[in-house]
Amino acid sequence: MRKSILMALALSLVTAVGGVWAESMHDRMHRAHMAGKKDAHAMGEHDEVNMPGLNGKDTTPTEVSDLKALFTQHKALRRTVDNLPDGIRTVTETDDAALRSKLLSHVVLMLARFQNGRDPEVVIQSPTLTALFKHADVIATRIEMSATGVVVIQTSTDANVVALLQAHAAEVSDMSARGMQAVHERMQADHHKR
Ligand code: HEM
Repeated sequence: MRKSILMALALSLVTAVGGVWAESMHDRMHRAHMAGKKDAHAMGEHDEVNMPGLNGKDTTPTEVSDLKALFTQHKALRRTVDNLPDGIRTVTETDDAALRSKLLSHVVLMLARFQNGRDPEVVIQSPTLTALFKHADVIATRIEMSATGVVVIQTSTDANVVALLQAHAAEVSDMSARGMQAVHERMQADHHKR
């Protein structure tokens, strides 16, 4: 009897200490986020020049360089997404020839990974993308060139996968419109869901 009371006490102590730790960790992260760039940089975060978050467990220098160009020059991209009953049709274009070749390289290399089920596990990638990789075998993909960019059509017979494709296309549109700001906000929202 006494033993179980002791056990319960020990457990609640662990929970309480864990709670305090979690809270202070959370507060610390917020302070770092909110304290302005100086503190965040001191922690190695928000490095807009080297963008360390664009590296992945399995990324090549070309893939990271493509991502960096897409993020830093996102304002030069135009993008439209049509949600189809069974997927998406996206058009992403730019008048900047150098950026266009980075865009094409990104799409081709990433879709090849997709076909081979090789998730790059980029530090800042969205959970939607990670989920999509698990269903790559039930997604049909077609790429077409347009005069100034690329058209991607992806379809699936699985309604849940269609929803993931549409969610991911919207995330790419947000990154295309707002660059890293879109990623920061998505990561903050994900953090608060936990
Ligand atoms: C964390 C950063 C990023 C990662 C890890 C990433 C990865 C990927 C992967 C794996 C795909 C193929 C999967 C699919 O088509 O559903 C893809 C597609 C694509 N990505 Fe990225 N991407 C990132 C950021 C960006 C950015 C910033 C842009 C442009 C602003 C972009 C533009 C595209 C486009 C146009 C496609 C073709 C599919 C579509 O149009 O929705 N990506 N990306």
